Amino acid sequence: MNIVLIGFRGTGKSTVGKLLSKRLERDFIDSDQYIESITGKTIKSIFEDDGEEGFRKIEADTIAELSKVDNKVISAGGGVVLKEENVRNLKEKGFLVLLEATPEIIYKRISQDEKTTQQRPSLTDKTPLDEIRHLIAIREHAYSNAADYTINTSYVSCEDIVNEIITVENKQSN
Ligand code: S3P
Repeated sequence: MNIVLIGFRGTGKSTVGKLLSKRLERDFIDSDQYIESITGKTIKSIFEDDGEEGFRKIEADTIAELSKVDNKVISAGGGVVLKEENVRNLKEKGFLVLLEATPEIIYKRISQDEKTTQQRPSLTDKTPLDEIRHLIAIREHAYSNAADYTINTSYVSCEDIVNEIITVENKQSN
């Protein structure tokens, strides 16, 4: 069974995913990094060349491929839940953990994260904090429908989040 971290940008998927993979001694796969390695382009330049629609197609193909692996920790890009087929594919061998955080905390985290320039192009013409609020409102249902388990990461340490995921995944697989 894979553990798949889903949720909006800046909710802690990569940080928690890396720690979790170390603790469980499983490989860690980040879908955005995987896309960048197979296309040889940054997420930002894929958006510039092919638009969001083009990116979503590449993302769906990548998720279909990654859904075939087993026993990994996978961090899925924030928009993966927008296509039902992605969620269906990931669920075949995955336990989906939704990470959430307040818009203000997300804004703070992503504006301090060096990954943001290359991997997080603007998705609307709104100011950053408004964009976060707007997209979370639009995606809320898709996130909660996809989730097998949800953790709010706003005020919890990464260590505690990792422990919680391990506990719940153990219960799930026994
Ligand atoms: C996106 C989130 C990003 C990346 C792309 C689109 C989104 O991933 O896939 O910029 O639509 O929310 P992270 O959630 O890993 O930042």
